Amino acid sequence: MKVIENYIHGKNPIEKEALRLKIQAKNLKPHIWKNVDLNFFNLDASKPFLELGCGVAAQTKDLLEKLPYNISIYGVDVDPVQIKFAKKELKNKRCSFHVMDGRYLNYPNNFFCGAYVSWVLEHMTYNDSIRCLKELRRTIANGGTIMINTSYLEPKKSLIIKNKLSRFPTSCEKFLQLLLEWQRKKRKNSNLAARKNIFDILLKSGFKKEDISYNLKEMEFKTKEEISSWAEVIMKLFQSTAFQMNELDPNILHEIKQELDNSIYHSWHFGQVIAKIKKNK
Ligand SMILES: C[S@@+](CC[C@H](N)C(=O)[O-])C[C@H]1O[C@@H](n2cnc3c(N)ncnc32)[C@H](O)[C@@H]1O
Repeated sequence: MKVIENYIHGKNPIEKEALRLKIQAKNLKPHIWKNVDLNFFNLDASKPFLELGCGVAAQTKDLLEKLPYNISIYGVDVDPVQIKFAKKELKNKRCSFHVMDGRYLNYPNNFFCGAYVSWVLEHMTYNDSIRCLKELRRTIANGGTIMINTSYLEPKKSLIIKNKLSRFPTSCEKFLQLLLEWQRKKRKNSNLAARKNIFDILLKSGFKKEDISYNLKEMEFKTKEEISSWAEVIMKLFQSTAFQMNELDPNILHEIKQELDNSIYHSWHFGQVIAKIKKNK
């Protein structure tokens, strides 16, 4: 099996990464599920539901809660360390976890009734995303639904943090700029701006425009509690990626922390796709 190389959070100790993902999932849950109508999904209890790129199962427990109790969930991830953690973390008879590369799914055609793919396409190349989505089209039955969340981590695009002095705190912006440049230079297999080309990826994988619904979800954090909780998500995300950037000035994380602590407003947005699998009979 081909394993994803250079995963952007890859060198972090698993406990640290698991905690980061859990905090992220908890903060994003209300925004992810807001206005999502599961009646539209055509869930079929005779077939399992797939969570592709489930990681440590931080969102699998939300799926268990949201999907009807008779739907079983297959959590699949290419990283054996995260799957081992997920198996320990979430013991539930409706769930099973499997090490597998989404580009080469070892399941027969029409095996699943639908799929959930959250913060995963950012971690693969454009062509690999197409490959994964083609595999999902093959393994999900006609009429099934796929839900994708994807971020856009380019500077001055989705993350807005205001403090009393400046609109865009400079250290956060500087960090995102460095991250992007570093990624372009060093990495060939991640695509942090995946949201930007999600439509192309879907169309090239065989989805038709009329079967795709796209929602840009905006989140605003205004109260002290909301801001500090979201600042923790951002800080942990930056720390986990900075871990890989050997040449990064270590002071920048300290500066970011100060900026986040002194901020009075945060907003962030992400793209959510809900698309139908339609197959020619
Ligand atoms: C940022 S994590 C998100 C994990 C989880 N969806 C969550 O929100 O907590 C991205 C996950 O995608 C997985 N991944 C990346 N490429 C993959 C591939 N080709 N097949 C399966 N999983 C993949 C990584 O191993 C990682 O666990």
